[in-house]
Amino acid sequence: MRGISFFETIQEELVRVEEAIRGTLRADGESLASRICIHLQEAGGKRLRPGLTLLAAQFGPKGPSDQLYRVAAAVEITHMATLVHDDTIDEAETRRGIPTINARWDDGTAILAGDMLFAKAVSLLASVGQPRLLWIMADAIGAMCQGEIQQLDRRNDLNQEEIHYLERVEKKTAVFIAAACQMGALVSGADEETGLRLRGYGLNVGMAFQIIDDLLDLVQASDSHSGKPVGLDLKKGVFTLPLIYALNDNGKGDFFRTQLQKGCLNHAELLLWACEHLESTGALDRSRRLATAYITKARDELLHLPESPVRQVLDEIADFVQERSF
Ligand code: IPE
Ligand code: IPE
Ligand code: MG
Ligand code: MG
Ligand code: MG
Repeated sequence: MRGISFFETIQEELVRVEEAIRGTLRADGESLASRICIHLQEAGGKRLRPGLTLLAAQFGPKGPSDQLYRVAAAVEITHMATLVHDDTIDEAETRRGIPTINARWDDGTAILAGDMLFAKAVSLLASVGQPRLLWIMADAIGAMCQGEIQQLDRRNDLNQEEIHYLERVEKKTAVFIAAACQMGALVSGADEETGLRLRGYGLNVGMAFQIIDDLLDLVQASDSHSGKPVGLDLKKGVFTLPLIYALNDNGKGDFFRTQLQKGCLNHAELLLWACEHLESTGALDRSRRLATAYITKARDELLHLPESPVRQVLDEIADFVQERSF
């Protein structure tokens, strides 16, 4: 899997974070648990969240430190844990271009592997000695679980609205990205106001990130870019923003409702049908516009921070999140 090009400025720090991840994950010798960890780390990933932690840290006075690398590593290991559980819930078979733990082994193994990763992340974070970081992380994990539960609860619900979607996206994705930014600021000794601005930036970037992820799941013709399956949300009855817009459309809402209720299309047909009609009702464009609005809010948060090269990089990340195709 590809990394993100504008992380060039923190390339060396990312290498240190990777070492911290490896050191944490490979502490169990030759066991199956250890093989699973190696399987996960070697698959790579964008490393967006630990990258944000490192960049946010540049707003504090302390500079790069072993503690910062541990925080960033704990962020990525937590992210890995959430993905392992998410793939089990979603019955996804590939992630980062390779088989998921649930596909390569089984669901039970994946649940336990995810729990193990959470435990390793917490232990690593605790070793930094700043209890506040643990609270922020625990809050983010709790929110994520709530968001995922809300999503499960609304599967195949034809009567949901934008607000329901936005609430669960904030909880399942945005709060964690916000926490990754705030923790970077705090571990490097940034003041409260700076930490909160960076948290606000992360929250808005996170909203846009999930909206775009959901769009990509609907409109990508194949999974070659993302390394994960496409069309899975619809298959699992998870109605994302474009579909919710279409269902609530005054003109075409009933048409969508009937088509989804009938259930006479197979999955591939349904996906094709949905893409075509979502485009024509403007639901895809409307979703893209909302992502752009969140990116604008993220940028506005940055304006309250001192102008610097790192602020420019965060600005570019906001752009990337909006334009990304993987
Ligand atoms: C995937 O996150 C989970 C979502 C919140 C959509 P990423 O797209 O950052 O996954 P990796 O880390 O690059 O694999
Ligand atoms: C994001 O939702 C998952 C988490 C917040 C853990 P998705 O289910 O859409 O994520 P992907 O598409 O599998 O990466
Ligand atoms: Mg998923
Ligand atoms: Mg999911
Ligand atoms: Mg997705």
